[in-house]
Amino acid sequence: MQHFVIVGILVIITTILTYLGLDVAGLAKQQHPIAASAQSVSIDQLWQWEMIVISFLFAVIFVPMMYSLVAFRQKKGEMKDGEHMEGNTSLEIAWTVIPLFLVVIFAYLGGWSLGEVRRVDPQALVINVKGQQFTWTFEYPEYGIITNELHLPADRQVVLKMTSIDVIHSFWVPEFRIKQDVVPGRITEYRVTPTLVGNYKVRCAELCGTSHAYMENAVIVNTQADYDAWIAEQAELAKLAAQTPEGQGRLLTVRNGCTGCHSLDGTPLTGPTWFNIFGKTEEMNDGSTLVIDEAYLIESILNPNAKIVAGFPSPSVMPAFVFSDEELANIIAYIKTLK
Ligand code: CUA
Repeated sequence: MQHFVIVGILVIITTILTYLGLDVAGLAKQQHPIAASAQSVSIDQLWQWEMIVISFLFAVIFVPMMYSLVAFRQKKGEMKDGEHMEGNTSLEIAWTVIPLFLVVIFAYLGGWSLGEVRRVDPQALVINVKGQQFTWTFEYPEYGIITNELHLPADRQVVLKMTSIDVIHSFWVPEFRIKQDVVPGRITEYRVTPTLVGNYKVRCAELCGTSHAYMENAVIVNTQADYDAWIAEQAELAKLAAQTPEGQGRLLTVRNGCTGCHSLDGTPLTGPTWFNIFGKTEEMNDGSTLVIDEAYLIESILNPNAKIVAGFPSPSVMPAFVFSDEELANIIAYIKTLK
């Protein structure tokens, strides 16, 4: 009996220490990124319970094993065999019924959590999402807005209808807790109700190529009023932009995800930056030099492998695009404005 009391106390202490250890290692709830969606509440609760049970299960196996090794070891001069034991019905019932009970409880909690996460609001705001190597494009179909930054109103359910134009990507905003694959030829849905105003990032969570790690775009959660103001401003900008060649060029580059690989501020990404690119003298990977002019830009858009700037991947990872002459002229008009 005394052994059971000691083991019981040690199990409780070890459970607490294991849980604290998991917490320090960043696995328990305290160290998660901030929870910024309605869906994260039930997911975090489930996670918390699992960490507690995992700590207990570790203790309940580890402590009796270590205790037995020490307390029942062969003493000096003790030569005879151990006592013969056969079966223990109450112990067998206990170690069958208790785990069964735990599994059933967690099946229930899991089902409940899934139900909370998948709860459909028929009034949800629809946004179309396109994933590609290596950026995200967001379309607000009601307003004709296309951007590379996802703006969301707080406290309203949003349904993202997502697809990919090349390989499998995965849409993941850690603060929302939910993750969903983005698959070519298929539309997958992602429902989220952001609850906390702030700036977050969508990260691609499926290894999708050389710049997978850089496939992250801004996610901005605003109050309904700020969101409405942003929508009005973007709709106005889109209307104005459609009237000038550089405005149309900019829309084309957003729509086609060009800035996922070509920065506008001088940062080298997978491809050369577009900042100050027009008229610049560049060294090519065959050692020659040339001045970046209209002809070079057009050739590089239609056939990215023709002449590659030194220091960038060869063969090029850029897909060959098909544009009309007018579209090409608009894109170049836009690139010329980047200085
Ligand atoms: Cu897209 Cu990783």
